[in-house]
Amino acid sequence: MLYIGVDLGTSAVKLELVDENGNIKNEISRSYPVRFPHPGWSEQDPDDWKKAVLEGIPELLKGFDASQVRGIGAGGQMHGLVVLDDEDRVIRPAILWNDGRTQKEVDHLNEEVGRRKLSEWTANIAFAGFTAPKILWMRENEKENFDRISKIMLPKDYINYVLTGVHCTDFSDASGMLLLDVKNRRWSEEMLRECGITEKQLPKLFESYECVGTLKKDVAALLGLKEDVVVAAGAGDNAAAAVGTGVVGNGGCNISLGTSGTVFITSDRFGVDPNNALHSFDHADGGYHLMGCMLSAASCLKWLMEDILHSTDYTGEQAAITEDKLGRNQVFFLPYMMGERSPINDVRARGTFIGMTMSTTRADLIQAVLEGVSFAIRDSLEVARSLGIDISSSMICGGGAKSPLWQKIMANVLGITLKKAATEQGPGFGGAILAMVASGAYPTVGDACGKLITVASEVGPDRELTARYEERYRAFRKIYPTLKELFPQLQ
Ligand code: XUL
Repeated sequence: MLYIGVDLGTSAVKLELVDENGNIKNEISRSYPVRFPHPGWSEQDPDDWKKAVLEGIPELLKGFDASQVRGIGAGGQMHGLVVLDDEDRVIRPAILWNDGRTQKEVDHLNEEVGRRKLSEWTANIAFAGFTAPKILWMRENEKENFDRISKIMLPKDYINYVLTGVHCTDFSDASGMLLLDVKNRRWSEEMLRECGITEKQLPKLFESYECVGTLKKDVAALLGLKEDVVVAAGAGDNAAAAVGTGVVGNGGCNISLGTSGTVFITSDRFGVDPNNALHSFDHADGGYHLMGCMLSAASCLKWLMEDILHSTDYTGEQAAITEDKLGRNQVFFLPYMMGERSPINDVRARGTFIGMTMSTTRADLIQAVLEGVSFAIRDSLEVARSLGIDISSSMICGGGAKSPLWQKIMANVLGITLKKAATEQGPGFGGAILAMVASGAYPTVGDACGKLITVASEVGPDRELTARYEERYRAFRKIYPTLKELFPQLQ
């Protein structure tokens, strides 16, 4: 049997064809644009996702027996606001997870409604990228569009709707809307009231590994698939990536270095960070997780390499960063290119290089980016440590994890062992696993992960290097508080 895993990312959709033993038979990727209509805004056209998936699946299946496909499961970029009218037409472009337009609405929710109530109702407070503040923004700024809303959903839910005709979402992704009572896995009546919406406008809730429906007749014909192909509810991309690296159950950790950077810590019990610096969300295996999310991670490196240095030779450029230079860089980088979410929650923070001299080289700048992102990941890990969570090792995945140098820097900045799975496919592979469970190939997500995922390599911290990075991290920690008040004045 074959399964299709969909990773609906910010720059592209990646599709994977996987068999029930976890072998990746084929993979393709189709990119689409992100639009930044104003500084700090970030939008995408849901029909671009639809086109990429509907054209991508037949390409993925070329040369394979499509009648063997049993299920489809997606992991998608989280928090994006997708709104449909009463004829299921997209009303406006989706407002994405890294969009920073909602500071006013975030302040209203956190200060006037109050953090305590929000946390009681949803287990979280408001962050600019979350969905509820965007709904309030629409109500205030695009009243006509707001009044036409018949259905609200998240990016991968739109794909599931296109495939099945069912308005659905899953608990892990819905957790990031600030509309879900995460603890009790149901919509929060209080939050719906605050946002001026009704439960009828929201999709039906499922566990990630449940089947939401099968393919619509016309879609099945278009894709060359059988109509009884099962579509799983799927998950937010971080939960799907955690499934894809086997981080399920209790006490696991996964670090993802994609466009965003996340630290994802699993638990079989519900829990909230008392300061709400880490998100408290449902997991795709039926449990819970805490998560810190930085908005720009591997995207900082891509920006420096491709837009500024005009190089795509990632390996060649990093070869100049030799062992003796690690932990000794005089240049620091704050990776707040789109503002920042965890743990500082500051949409006005900006990317910053500091500490340069006339002898600073391009390699020093690249190293500063690798280190700055690692330090910012450590900021979230430190919050978890302050809650008494002991993390001695973590899985690592995403584009950034392909660099052995970055993995080494990260392991030494964090002081923990970082492991990579034999299949490094992240959310798409996790989506395929959820499809296997939804179609009955495995009884639980845990069973499937236990059977399909193995650790292929690991990098541990080195005592001397960890000590050097400890000192550098302490210096890094002073930069943002010093600049914090300055950022809004510069804009
Ligand atoms: C998580 C988050 C990002 C996106 C990236 O809260 O906003 O990781 O899911 O696609």
